[in-house]
Amino acid sequence: MAISSRIAFVRKSGIREIFDLAQEIPNTISLGIGEPNFKTPKFIDEAAKKAIDEGFDKYTLNIGIPELRQQISSKLKRENNIEADPKTEIIVTAGATQAIFLLMYCLLEQGDEVLLPTPAFTAYEYSARLAGGKPVQCPLNESEDYEIDFDLLGKRCSKKAKLLILNSPCNPTGVTYREKEIKKLVEFVSERGLYLISDEIYEKYVYDDAKHFSPASSKEFKNRIVTVNGFSKTFGMTGWRLGYAVANEEIISALTRFNMYNSVCANSIAQKAGVAALEGSMGFFIPILKQYNKARNSMCKYLDELSLSYAAPSGAFYIFPDISSISKDSLHYCKGLLAEEHVATVPGSSFGTVGEGHIRLSYSVDENLLIIALEKMKKFNERFRK
Ligand SMILES: Cc1ncc(COP(=O)(O)O)c(C=O)c1O
Repeated sequence: MAISSRIAFVRKSGIREIFDLAQEIPNTISLGIGEPNFKTPKFIDEAAKKAIDEGFDKYTLNIGIPELRQQISSKLKRENNIEADPKTEIIVTAGATQAIFLLMYCLLEQGDEVLLPTPAFTAYEYSARLAGGKPVQCPLNESEDYEIDFDLLGKRCSKKAKLLILNSPCNPTGVTYREKEIKKLVEFVSERGLYLISDEIYEKYVYDDAKHFSPASSKEFKNRIVTVNGFSKTFGMTGWRLGYAVANEEIISALTRFNMYNSVCANSIAQKAGVAALEGSMGFFIPILKQYNKARNSMCKYLDELSLSYAAPSGAFYIFPDISSISKDSLHYCKGLLAEEHVATVPGSSFGTVGEGHIRLSYSVDENLLIIALEKMKKFNERFRK
């Protein structure tokens, strides 16, 4: 066999299955989108063009260019109340995805367990497994807007547990966790000697009175908290591949050494663009967030009309309705909706066992198309129910 047994378990996900099918169907409206629907702001493009013109086209340090680490450090202090030394406690990566992958490799021994509050972003499970770790699903409490079930976490936390991953605002549930709950989680990991990875990629997408809170603003930062973030969602830069990890010097040094043999460094032009992004004003995001909020409200209204229940979506750009009254098999439901109404959605089973009986809907879509897609979903549900 040509392919190593290490990756034998990596199969096509339910998400990919739906999107491969969608490619074949013209005029599909996708509510499965996991990226912003706006273009990278011009001032960021201009910085990248300037970097190209000035010949900034060689390898950079494995840890990332000093200017960008300085900007990230200032941003963390200003917006997240995190004090991180730009020289030793921040590494620039090819997206948050690479940061997560490097972290799993650098922190996990073979068989170490990773506590995953589920439903959770698919990459956590796969990167943990690729690094020899064992993901342990810890279902969130759906009936209480997916609040963290500390009793269950305690029960699932064995001596082999090493890491716990928090994603707030959350993909796929759209829940933003409150400061009080996050502080309790920090206490939990501290008492049990775990490391906490906080994935904050959707930090700017918060609605109503929700507020983003970074666990690394606590005194436990240097002992056991790693923050992962990036430019993809905030600045509409998914294709630029730019992210970062923030942790103590020992962890960042390991990630940096590993990066030499992984991607060497993040793209040099993208790093210059990242400096401009963080130096610039966030003013461009105000109308964008308003637009997302409007789309979110429209989607909630439709789901209410369809009598589908869902957790209050206070962040990111997803809603995770329960469709079990229509179908218990989310992949089957999504395939049917795609084939009959040409609307692509993501099966909830992609996000862990507890995600079954749900679908993930993204409202990162032009509002007119969103309404058309929801109307089509309404028709489909009526037929499916019969
Ligand atoms: C929760 C979460 N973390 C990380 C990522 C990946 O981000 P990046 O584009 O920076 O690799 C995504 C992308 O969808 C995500 O939903």
